[in-house]
Amino acid sequence: MVVVTGGTGYIGSHTVVELLQAGYQVTILDDLSNSNIEVLDAIEELTGVRPEFFEVDLSDAAATASVFEQIGSEADSTIHFAAKKAVGESVQDPLLYYRNNLFSLVNVLEEMKKHDIRNFVFSSSCTVYGQPDVCPVTEATPRKEAESPYGNTKSMAEDIIRDASPVEHFNSISLRYFNPIGAHASGKIGELPVGIPNNLVPYVTQTAAGIRETLTVHGNDYPTADGTCIRDYIHVVDLAKAHLQALKRIEDGRMDSAYEVFNVGTGNGYSVLDVVNGFEEATGIKVNYRIGPRRAGDITQVWADTSLANEALNWKAELGLKEALSSSWNWEQNYRKQNA
Ligand code: UFG
Repeated sequence: MVVVTGGTGYIGSHTVVELLQAGYQVTILDDLSNSNIEVLDAIEELTGVRPEFFEVDLSDAAATASVFEQIGSEADSTIHFAAKKAVGESVQDPLLYYRNNLFSLVNVLEEMKKHDIRNFVFSSSCTVYGQPDVCPVTEATPRKEAESPYGNTKSMAEDIIRDASPVEHFNSISLRYFNPIGAHASGKIGELPVGIPNNLVPYVTQTAAGIRETLTVHGNDYPTADGTCIRDYIHVVDLAKAHLQALKRIEDGRMDSAYEVFNVGTGNGYSVLDVVNGFEEATGIKVNYRIGPRRAGDITQVWADTSLANEALNWKAELGLKEALSSSWNWEQNYRKQNA
């Protein structure tokens, strides 16, 4: 059985669907702080299976221990998504981020140790590279000082896992996600828009839907071809599949050491305007946008070298930018219809 923390969240829910469809048994632990219990209905509709669910704050050691007491003997792996992820909020309230993201990681690892659960896959981020000197970045590219407390929690979490894994006999893989976008093809699960979106694609879809009047492109004076920032946008379904491949690598005993790290991106960099134009082409809908000033903390460009994941995980991104953008639009429309 696979314990999926944060399994009702955006990336977690897509991964749970892939796991269930591949025949894994899944138990979800989530505090529902940034997700909705109805995601379980959608998962059940898509897979025919309703995974076991525990509402728990994993930064609470006693509560975490109590849940693992109930499930520990059946579990052999954990995929740990549960974390706070808003960069701006982390700058406003760093202690909240360190407590939540790091305490919960340590609590989960301690319970895994106690219950002899040895396989671990962790949600890391390309944020650990900061603004790299050279693109694309490989896993050997040095990590840089993070731009935010959120970014710091990912880097520190990687260190905690790296240090603990050989000592505690964990087999651990950190997946460094680039920019996850898109939604399940069914339109039944996707990124839940809470308040005004910070991220580009939810802002684009909400502008297209008329919920936001104008998308602001944060700066067009960067040293890139069209002056806007470049990212590696990865379809969330491809990203979900990378977790299964990581789990398989661990289960098959193919790891070279107790702790490994993989970039999970497409290997292609797209600018903000590429995304806006790609959305218009994919959906036929115009996005009202204006050019605004740069956003504090944004890096100019980053995209992944994915060769290591391609080889070692036998995985590569299969869905392109336009497929991702039209799936986001499909999700946005479905979500609005259901919540009208
Ligand atoms: N952007 C806009 N307008 C918007 C929103 C975003 O122009 O309304 C631009 C940003 O300036 C950036 C690009 O779109 O150039 C992508 O921005 P996102 O906010 O979607 O994504 P980020 O690359 O900033 O954030 C991602 C992850 C974070 C992670 C961060 C680290 O979502 O979790 O990378 O760099 F911390």
